[in-house]
Amino acid sequence: MQDVHMQNTGPADNEATIAPKLLAWYKREGRALPWRAPAGTLQDPYKVWLSEVMLQQTTVKTVTPRFIDFLRRWPDVDALAHAELGEVLAAWAGLGYYARARNLHACARVVSESHGGRFPDTEEDLRKLPGIGAYTSSAIAAIAFGRPASPVDGNIERVIARLFAIETPLPAAKPEIKSLAEKLTPETHAGDFAQAMMDLGATICTSPRPACGLCPVRPDCQGFEKGLAAQLPYKAAKAARPTRRGAAFVAVRKDGAVLLRERPPKGLLGGMLETPSTPWLEGSQSEPEEAYAPVEGSWQKLPETVTHTFTHFHLELAVYRATVQQRATLRAVAEPGRCRWVAQQDLATAALPTVMRKVVGSALNG
Ligand code: ADE
Repeated sequence: MQDVHMQNTGPADNEATIAPKLLAWYKREGRALPWRAPAGTLQDPYKVWLSEVMLQQTTVKTVTPRFIDFLRRWPDVDALAHAELGEVLAAWAGLGYYARARNLHACARVVSESHGGRFPDTEEDLRKLPGIGAYTSSAIAAIAFGRPASPVDGNIERVIARLFAIETPLPAAKPEIKSLAEKLTPETHAGDFAQAMMDLGATICTSPRPACGLCPVRPDCQGFEKGLAAQLPYKAAKAARPTRRGAAFVAVRKDGAVLLRERPPKGLLGGMLETPSTPWLEGSQSEPEEAYAPVEGSWQKLPETVTHTFTHFHLELAVYRATVQQRATLRAVAEPGRCRWVAQQDLATAALPTVMRKVVGSALNG
């Protein structure tokens, strides 16, 4: 075996020492998080899966209390499988894309009903489950089952781009980064290694100001040696997000109930609730906004628009408000079959996405 300590001639020669150093650092400095077991032990697959799905779109700080609530409410995969989808969607509010919550519920059902409540223990079989892609399957395989898998999230991507001074911009650099992550992954303790890389990225190898003075693998870091650590990874310029516009109608009944509509099950915010609205379009609407008002009434356009940014577009919504008759008849344009009146005290727990909370909030409080 190569004596790596004696032949320390520069970062490129030190790949084999990176994992042991990071594992030792993780044992000492790894963050204690509610889904984690101590370094050196395997973690409950349900907790790993749930935390990884939550963490895909949200920070550790936001996820931590939400994870604890979820776990208290649904302590294992069978409990989650038996929950109502609406309850799970409502509990997801503020955790980002609801497609993830729908898949979470669907996945719990498959694991509970077709796998006897046990998650499969290989990347390949995990990937067949709803909502589990390349990243999540390798994270679960490594962290819960000790497989030598190499999940690469944004933190790990940054750490590797710096360690190897990869100057190809993202996303073109992704395959090279993945293959270097695989090269670094040890045969045993791959889960600790992955989480060590995540923690290094989150606490030391941060963007934009890495704390290289505290880094356990600084002697191995080509980015540090070249003075590039803080700049890497380079990113290709993003296509500008287009702006879509529309109008949302908040009909409030005399008893305070608000008219909401269920969105189609597939696609953006699938199955979530919204106020009846015009289509959201980049160009101009073919009909005047008022043509989409869901009931007859004296609609008042509020002075402020509501804005919200989705991954692929910005949205600007004009908000109309009207107080309507208790027995108001819904117009066909509102698609009455998908509409329902929701009492004001039930709004807090309704499956309303953030953008619609802004709309309803501006109409009721503005
Ligand atoms: N981000 C994504 N997965 C994580 C994990 N298991 N621990 C900490 N941060 C993470």
